[in-house]
Amino acid sequence: MAQDVSAGLRLGSILPVTAGVNPAGHLTLGGCDTVELAAEYGTPLYVFDDETLRAQCRAFTTSFGHRHPSTMVAYAAKALAGLAVLRLVAEEGMGLDVVSGGELAVALAAGFPPERIHLHGNNKAPSELREALDAGIGRIVVDNLDELALLDRIAGECGVTASILLRLSPGVDPHTHHKITTGILDTKFGISIQTGDAETAVIQALASPHLELLGFHCHIGSQIFEKEAYVETVEVMLGFAARMRDRHGYTLQEFSPGGGFAVQYVAGAPPPDPDVYAELVVDALHAACEAHGLPLPKLFVEPGRSIVARAGVALYTVGSHKEIPGVRTYVSVDGGMADNIRPAIYDARYEALIAGRAAAEPGDIVTVAGKYCESGDILIRDIALAEPRAGDILAIPASGAYCVPMASNYNAALRPAIVFVKDGAARLVRRRETYEDLLRTELG
Ligand code: LLP
Repeated sequence: MAQDVSAGLRLGSILPVTAGVNPAGHLTLGGCDTVELAAEYGTPLYVFDDETLRAQCRAFTTSFGHRHPSTMVAYAAKALAGLAVLRLVAEEGMGLDVVSGGELAVALAAGFPPERIHLHGNNKAPSELREALDAGIGRIVVDNLDELALLDRIAGECGVTASILLRLSPGVDPHTHHKITTGILDTKFGISIQTGDAETAVIQALASPHLELLGFHCHIGSQIFEKEAYVETVEVMLGFAARMRDRHGYTLQEFSPGGGFAVQYVAGAPPPDPDVYAELVVDALHAACEAHGLPLPKLFVEPGRSIVARAGVALYTVGSHKEIPGVRTYVSVDGGMADNIRPAIYDARYEALIAGRAAAEPGDIVTVAGKYCESGDILIRDIALAEPRAGDILAIPASGAYCVPMASNYNAALRPAIVFVKDGAARLVRRRETYEDLLRTELG
């Protein structure tokens, strides 16, 4: 496992494990000076630390693998998809969860082994199902009864048997933000156990000539701190599996409780670490199997955020100030909601530091605003920074998940560049968009 040299640093547990401060007082990541990276590649810039990415992959594969050897950790590509990150994940021996034909195309372009890819989605297009079958991916996770019928027909037309999991909705509330809660009764995702639809789906799947029902999947939400929610989920799902065995002679071979493992965005709010989640899930699984006399299934887990969040740091250049005496001081940066919509959508909270004075004590409280034409384009409300001045580089840690993939061209913003850093070298893995890119799809 990578040595965490960031430990002595302010915000060290949120920054990548290689974070440091060089003699110039600049924040370094992967041995690279972030002020120099900003000068070379421009801002906003998303910097990803190779060592932190690999450390997170290994934390999950090891902690689950040593407790339940028949586990595949499938990275949820929606958190950050791109050739570099997907190749790294493949090298780490992991699987992949994709949710669209687009993510599948990127994964295949990265050379990701198709048999380790699972396709999710609550409204997969017939074309996406065909693409998945053509590529020979490992599993299709069927989300509803309509899709069961559709996939059976398409698999028949393609002359194949589709290996499926059923995405069930266990009715468990993990008490995270309501916009990232996905396993309660009132959700668009999955087939409800509570309403009886899940049993109907099992019967229908078992009777479908072109489908092989390998197991059950669920995903109750994201950024879940509540440990009991995983235990309850496993119990509900395995209880359902036992009923399906008793009533329909069905034996569960594979099981996935999804992803949702929380990450640390702000000081003082550390989530359970991967090992704790692994212990919870695996102990609950083993106990439930024993209680119901079920054989141990193959386990899939799908961390997204927890693989990439800590590895990514966003760099911005500070521009204008606006001081409203007695009210607030706004410090604007050259990015904002077009590259990180999370504060606007989820009230997500971040920390920040001035990259050129990384060891300085933060002073005045300011509000970091983006540059886009929306009052809601605020990246961080009320944060202490070390005297931010125009031209300074502002670093926002824990920006690795769901920022770049949710980036938009709002205000015709150019989506940012991404560099990977490792051992003092930076590699541009995605260039910044250009004005030509904005016009690429325009036909007049
Ligand atoms: N598996 C399934 C079926 C999912 O729907 C998701 C996330 C994951 C795994 C990965 O969850 P994670 O480990 O990353 O929490 N845009 C939101 C997050 C949406 C998550 C959607 N599904 C955000 O920025 O917080």
